[in-house]
Amino acid sequence: MEQLYTEYPVLYDAIQSDWDYNRDVTFVTDLLDRDPRDCRLLEIGCGTGNHTRLFADAGFDVTAVEPNEGMLRRARETADASYHDGGLPDLPVADTFDVVVAIRGVINHVSPGELDAALADMVGHLAADGLLVFDNSPLPPEGNSPAIDIGSLNGDQYARVVQMNPGPGDRLHWDQILLTPGGEVVVDTREMTPFDDLEIAAALSTHDTVFEPADGFGPADSRTVFVCRPGSRGGRLSGSPG
Ligand SMILES: C[S@@+](CC[C@H](N)C(=O)[O-])C[C@H]1O[C@@H](n2cnc3c(N)ncnc32)[C@H](O)[C@@H]1O
Repeated sequence: MEQLYTEYPVLYDAIQSDWDYNRDVTFVTDLLDRDPRDCRLLEIGCGTGNHTRLFADAGFDVTAVEPNEGMLRRARETADASYHDGGLPDLPVADTFDVVVAIRGVINHVSPGELDAALADMVGHLAADGLLVFDNSPLPPEGNSPAIDIGSLNGDQYARVVQMNPGPGDRLHWDQILLTPGGEVVVDTREMTPFDDLEIAAALSTHDTVFEPADGFGPADSRTVFVCRPGSRGGRLSGSPG
């Protein structure tokens, strides 16, 4: 039951209100040797459209893909883009793009068995001189203790209890219970995959791409960001088979 994504995208945005979306978008634009106004960008897992809006403002011609209808609805209100319902590993678009992004744990929503197909799908949507940027969230495979988060939604208080527990198939149950200012109880459980960076590097190195890992989108970000370009197979991550 993914109530947060499907029914309460406004609450999702409240939880993410401190996230530095500008920093992520700047990370991508700084990698480009072209004017964004000359680029078609595919955003995978666009969520509520916060990066989408900034990419569109930067001048990109944005196509955005998102499998959760509630998130997609809010994204349509947030940013001007061409939207499609769907996700990895079966993207609902046929074209190739100058830039492909999947930002903030989008890859961690696919199962271990889908990883290779998801990477192939992303790489397969790259133009010949394209750029692919996606991140791997550092999720704890052993799970963690419940944590409490109190935040503000339109000036009123919400509360959230969140915990991750190991599940079958090398996945994690991400469980959240939220109490909204309006007295609603929101239950959000979803499965995530705590990929090892080396696992992603090994899978990437079997595709026609050259990649470089970066330590986050900025100094305070604990994700690994994979920066990939089409090219002869192989990567540069220490210990990877590429
Ligand atoms: C943590 S959110 C990030 C959303 C947005 N990129 C942001 O930074 O706010 C992960 C997003 O990935 C979407 N998602 C889930 N499974 C997916 C899949 N298989 N392919 C693409 N996106 C997926 C979710 O619906 C959600 O919107």
